[in-house]
Amino acid sequence: MSKMWGGRFNKGTDALTDDFNSSISFDQRLYKQDIRGSIAHAKMLGKQGIISVPESELIVKTLGEILEDIEAGKIEFSVDMEDIHMNIESILTGRIGDTGKKLHTGRSRNDQVATDMRLYVKDISMELKDLIRNLGLTLMDMASKHTKTIMPGYTHLQRAQPITFAHHLMAYVEMFRRDMKRLDQVYDMADTLPLGSGALATTTYPLDRYYVASELGFKNVSMNSLDGVSDRDFCIDFLEAVSVFMMHLSRFSEEIILWCSSEFNFITLDDAFSTGSSIMPQKKNPDIAELVRGKAGRTYGDLLGFLTTMKGIPLAYNKDMQEDKEPVFDAYDTAKICAITFEKMIGTMTVNTEVMRKSAAGGFSNATDAADWLVKHGVAFRDAHAIIGKLVFYALEKGKSLDELTLEEYNAVDPVFDESIYDAIDLQTCVNQRDIVGGPAESTVRRAIAVNRSLFQKA
Ligand code: ARG
Repeated sequence: MSKMWGGRFNKGTDALTDDFNSSISFDQRLYKQDIRGSIAHAKMLGKQGIISVPESELIVKTLGEILEDIEAGKIEFSVDMEDIHMNIESILTGRIGDTGKKLHTGRSRNDQVATDMRLYVKDISMELKDLIRNLGLTLMDMASKHTKTIMPGYTHLQRAQPITFAHHLMAYVEMFRRDMKRLDQVYDMADTLPLGSGALATTTYPLDRYYVASELGFKNVSMNSLDGVSDRDFCIDFLEAVSVFMMHLSRFSEEIILWCSSEFNFITLDDAFSTGSSIMPQKKNPDIAELVRGKAGRTYGDLLGFLTTMKGIPLAYNKDMQEDKEPVFDAYDTAKICAITFEKMIGTMTVNTEVMRKSAAGGFSNATDAADWLVKHGVAFRDAHAIIGKLVFYALEKGKSLDELTLEEYNAVDPVFDESIYDAIDLQTCVNQRDIVGGPAESTVRRAIAVNRSLFQKA
């Protein structure tokens, strides 16, 4: 088949060149954005008198029909036509002849593809944001049921201070709220229309770029044609936002994996979201969480791969930039399936509240509170730290927890102790006294849930 750009060539391309060069196998998923962009461009050409109004109307109408046919699965794209842009243009010309050939007036595939990618990244950023919103809302539903569920909080993966399961879950809600904000920022970065930049230096036709921008819902119009066709920062921003989101999901997955081990036994995954072993009959594995953790690495690969592609490219468009698509598509597909599956897995798991509470009670997680009790009774904090350290050492030897020591045992270490120490180191007290903003106290966490619920609402 002869190429759209075949005029200056003496012979056809090698089949290998066609295969290697073409992007239709993956960029066909831009068909909607491509048609939207072309419709806006054609309307503008008609409005500006660059083509006639009937010609513009015929192009717009036919592009609409092509869109329907693509969605109905009636269209087969061709590798000869290289990419989605030339495929659609050639289908258009096939249907309306010479008028179709006028669509590309004042436009280049360079500003066309940059426009399509921006429309696409804007769309998927909002779709991913909605999935993260769902995940956050599920976590908040769970959190509101667990504001009294005591668990150990950790540093260095050593039991540190008591918190609640709700407080732990809400930490992830904070991360997901930032992820949503990051996607808003990606949307903003992509919200500039490059169409009108031409191949690199705009065009002599009197295009109305602001009209096209408002037709397509772009907030801004690019101010430099070289940057217009060669900026892919918004793709990198998207890949970065996905990578950070996946990093959050991966940390959460790691905790799920630990928690469902027999050593922790804090949670039990639903059978529907676990897998077995082909050899060990007793096994129930957290494969979903492990895969999510693994796939985070894959999205970092998408980010680093494309960042590296961009680093050596001179202005303006170069074919290297066709490599923007697969990483963006892959990162989106990956984050999407992970967000959906993870949400279901977490929403169906059982929380073993009694195991969590026992673990918090057993790990001296109230030692700081015991030291604080001493401070409130006139002992300097450093001395208090040493006294409780001694008590912990003693309790470890006896195989007891701090609340199991008798008052005599306390007084043997320091006479200042009295009965009120027991209330101060009660885990519920330890948690509920930490009621300053950001703390695990039930009242504080309930407020954090309420604030986040409103921030997670759809604008
Ligand atoms: N398929 C190409 C891409 O994705 C479209 C732009 C091609 N432009 C060009 N001058 N060859 O980047």
